[in-house]
Amino acid sequence: MAPSPLHLLLLPWFMHFLILLPSAVVAQSSGTVGVTYTTAPSTADHVARFVESSKISAVRLPDANPTVIRSFTFTNVSLLLTIPNSLVPVIAANRSNAATWLYNHVVPYYPRARISTISVGNNVLDASPDLYDFVLPAINNIHTSLREIGIRSISVSTTFSFLSVMTDTFPPSSARFQSPADDVLIRPLLQFLEQTNSSFLINLYPYNVLRLNSEIPIAFALFQNLPYNFRDDITTGVRYLNLFDMMVDAVISAMAVAGHQSVSIIVTETGWPSAGSTGELEATQGYAEMYVKGLVKHLKSGVGTPLRKEGVAEAYIYELFDRDDEQEVNGTSRKWGIFYPNLTKKYDIQLSSSGVLSGNGSRTWVHIAGWIVLVLSSLLLH
Ligand SMILES: *[C@@H]1O[C@H](CO)[C@@H](O)[C@H](O)[C@H]1NC(C)=O
Ligand SMILES: *[C@@H]1O[C@H](CO)[C@@H](O)[C@H](O)[C@H]1NC(C)=O
Ligand SMILES: *[C@@H]1O[C@H](CO)[C@@H](O)[C@H](O)[C@H]1NC(C)=O
Ligand SMILES: *[C@@H]1O[C@H](CO)[C@@H](O)[C@H](O)[C@H]1NC(C)=O
Ligand SMILES: *[C@@H]1O[C@H](CO)[C@@H](O)[C@H](O)[C@H]1NC(C)=O
Ligand SMILES: *[C@@H]1O[C@H](CO)[C@@H](O)[C@H](O)[C@H]1NC(C)=O
Repeated sequence: MAPSPLHLLLLPWFMHFLILLPSAVVAQSSGTVGVTYTTAPSTADHVARFVESSKISAVRLPDANPTVIRSFTFTNVSLLLTIPNSLVPVIAANRSNAATWLYNHVVPYYPRARISTISVGNNVLDASPDLYDFVLPAINNIHTSLREIGIRSISVSTTFSFLSVMTDTFPPSSARFQSPADDVLIRPLLQFLEQTNSSFLINLYPYNVLRLNSEIPIAFALFQNLPYNFRDDITTGVRYLNLFDMMVDAVISAMAVAGHQSVSIIVTETGWPSAGSTGELEATQGYAEMYVKGLVKHLKSGVGTPLRKEGVAEAYIYELFDRDDEQEVNGTSRKWGIFYPNLTKKYDIQLSSSGVLSGNGSRTWVHIAGWIVLVLSSLLLH
């Protein structure tokens, strides 16, 4: 929607007022950077040792295989487990099924395996829309069963995909969750996440948005700091230097409109393919390296996004290894790995949490300004 004249009238007044705010608050948090590891259980022990020696501090397991979970015991690598979509209705139907899943995947390994989060389903809206109604009951059953077992430190959520859950995403201040999921699933979920101190999980690929919007300069998607390489959100008056931040802030704006702007965000998947199908001109090793390096540098800088100075709580790069089993399309298939299957690096990146740069306070006033205008504009619009 276009900013109303009222916004434009109010903006200068707010900017004037905000200049007076202290700008010395330094953002010090920096998000955890992990990887998604798609299971090859036969080599799991080997892979767990490799992950640990590569100083990767968090791993997301999209198919939560018990052999793989066990291989990460005693590694100090934190794990995000995913319950497959096919089990969501089963777990929703009966709490004892939730307990059974936990007795097979969590109880034998926890806390020696540092399981941090369980996602009940992955991209259910897109992949299995018929399961939609089962997501919240399944989340509740897993959460209640965990408490009954006496585990309080594992949080429970579900994973969405940016393109299938968001609408009107640019500028970020206009973003909303799609209907009807917004009312029937996402608002009650956000309330649950807030009450249980859990996170909103989202798969977020600037690569896919770039492919759908030819007017976006590729450098903007690749964290390249070039002159004029920015986008302004006129409503909030904030300037975006990369597409990733715009997408995260779109999610934050939509959460604010839904009344739950403080829920933390975990980016469960993001990445860039180093090879793709015929016609995927942006799927090159050079671009993949720029994206992953730019992302890691950005997350470790502690700068956050214009609307949230802590940024995302965690982000998992998709994915650890290239897979050979991916569907071949016209002789090629997308390769997302940051390592080859033989454990050699595709490009030189440093994921370890050491060497975190200290935050940069100079953008703090932008965070505050963005927020006030956003809150004000959502009040005016409703
Ligand atoms: C384990 O990981 C946590 C958080 O990532 C870190 O604070 C801690 O120092 C690590 N412990 C060991 C023994 O490496
Ligand atoms: C749930 O499952 C248990 C064990 O399979 C069974 O005894 C119980 O009757 C089920 N409850 C419901 C409401 O279906
Ligand atoms: C909420 O979760 C965060 C990160 O998982 C943790 O640091 C914080 O202490 C938790 N807060 C409460 C009130 O449990
Ligand atoms: C494979 O290539 C042919 C010819 O270029 C094209 O028509 C077809 O759509 C491609 N198939 C896929 C799945 O991309
Ligand atoms: C690992 O695999 C890559 C890609 O197939 C290859 O280029 C590289 O030489 C291999 N490295 C070793 C040590 O085998
Ligand atoms: C902080 O931000 C300013 C302005 O964006 C920049 O010039 C400066 O280099 C940054 N400092 C650090 C330590 O990142």
